[in-house]
Amino acid sequence: MATIKIHGGNPLGGEITVSGSKNGTLPLLAAALLIADQSIIENVPRIDDINAMIDMLRALGAKCEFIERSVLSIDASHITSVSAPYDLVRKMRGSFYVAGALLGRLGEAEVPLPGGCVIGSRPVDYHLSGFRALGAVVEERHGIMRARADKLTGSRMYMDSRYRSVGATVNVMLAAVLADGVTVIENASREPEVICCQQFLQQAGADIRGVGTDIVVIKGVEKLHGCRFRSVPDRMEAGTFLIACGVARGDVTVRAVEPRHMGVVLNLLQRAGLKVESGPDYVHAIADKRPHAFEVTTAPYPGFPTDLQPNAGVLGALAVGTTVIQETIFEARFNYIDELKRMGADMQLKDSVAIIRGVPKLYGAPVEATDIRAGSALVVAGLAADGYTEISGAEFLARGYENLEGKLQQLGATITSTPSVEDDKARNAWHR
Ligand code: UD1
Repeated sequence: MATIKIHGGNPLGGEITVSGSKNGTLPLLAAALLIADQSIIENVPRIDDINAMIDMLRALGAKCEFIERSVLSIDASHITSVSAPYDLVRKMRGSFYVAGALLGRLGEAEVPLPGGCVIGSRPVDYHLSGFRALGAVVEERHGIMRARADKLTGSRMYMDSRYRSVGATVNVMLAAVLADGVTVIENASREPEVICCQQFLQQAGADIRGVGTDIVVIKGVEKLHGCRFRSVPDRMEAGTFLIACGVARGDVTVRAVEPRHMGVVLNLLQRAGLKVESGPDYVHAIADKRPHAFEVTTAPYPGFPTDLQPNAGVLGALAVGTTVIQETIFEARFNYIDELKRMGADMQLKDSVAIIRGVPKLYGAPVEATDIRAGSALVVAGLAADGYTEISGAEFLARGYENLEGKLQQLGATITSTPSVEDDKARNAWHR
């Protein structure tokens, strides 16, 4: 297992540049499979989930190459397979996006079902009912989804549920852009990462209206053409560093961000007592005392993101007063609580609500990350804790954060990481 060691207690100070968004860029890589041409994507984060998606594209016949540090060229002129390898889908749920792209481009896709996940049950039923609504015959057998259509035909669909599914909205859009006729997706996700995908598809020649709204109208076109496109900044990474500033105290500026995507997060930081100021592409936060307690409920965009809920939990753990956090999207997002309690946090979970009585100090301890965001919460806690925190399972962090250790060092943190032997080998092979 990879580990991260932190000697906590230093306030953070300085600036970091935020990378491109993991959740924004994964759909772009899948969308490039729709284009029998070269696509150039800028602001691609160099993280393990992107590496896995690139491996997936290569396995399907696309040529992928970084032409600059964060600029990826994808040539999907020739797709040689419609079967996604199990090993790659298993690594990461975002790889299920290739289902919509393969179905849209070639009328056929065989993709293993992504299955459960540590943050809770993550079904793909809305994805599959969307494909069916477009006329595909979809079967699930032996853990594999097979979808086929002689011709996909646009249709009107309502993304059923209490949620606006990010993944299903993207997958159905990918299947619909080359279909015959008009597709209307009601109750579509409005996350900035979905908008990023819509804008990329538009730039490649797709006819999409209602970008960023919950009613998306797609008129199928005959084909798409290559283009150059810049992925959206990672608001989860930016939020992690800003919350870290609130937890460890200090004076931190995050650059290369879209503050207008972060309204609810900045509001929470202000309610917690941080001084926050933003410009066109930066946010500056100052925290010089213990945070105030707050109440927050996770919700689809523009609500508070579930991905930052574990970090908010750490802010609450050190706040003056009692914080209440309700999780409405993934039932097991609170997996980090038991680990945080080992560091001295006073937290109780009742169904989907965490009641957090703030304590003046956390203490370093050996803890284990169970997913990307739980891992980042433990790092943030370690930055403020007295003494050493050793986080195992740190390979999750490399899936979603580019150079987390280096960026935190740049802010003055004492942090080192040791990759697992397997991860090290995989990354070396990948960079060759
Ligand atoms: C994406 C993000 C993840 C984020 C989540 C919610 C990526 C790669 N991941 O995940 O980081 O936490 O959005 O913002 O972008 N659901 C169903 N059936 C479906 C699809 C979803 O019941 O077919 C449920 C899920 O179990 C969950 C809710 O809908 O409770 C929202 O899930 P969804 O928005 O689809 O999340 P993902 O796209 O998987």
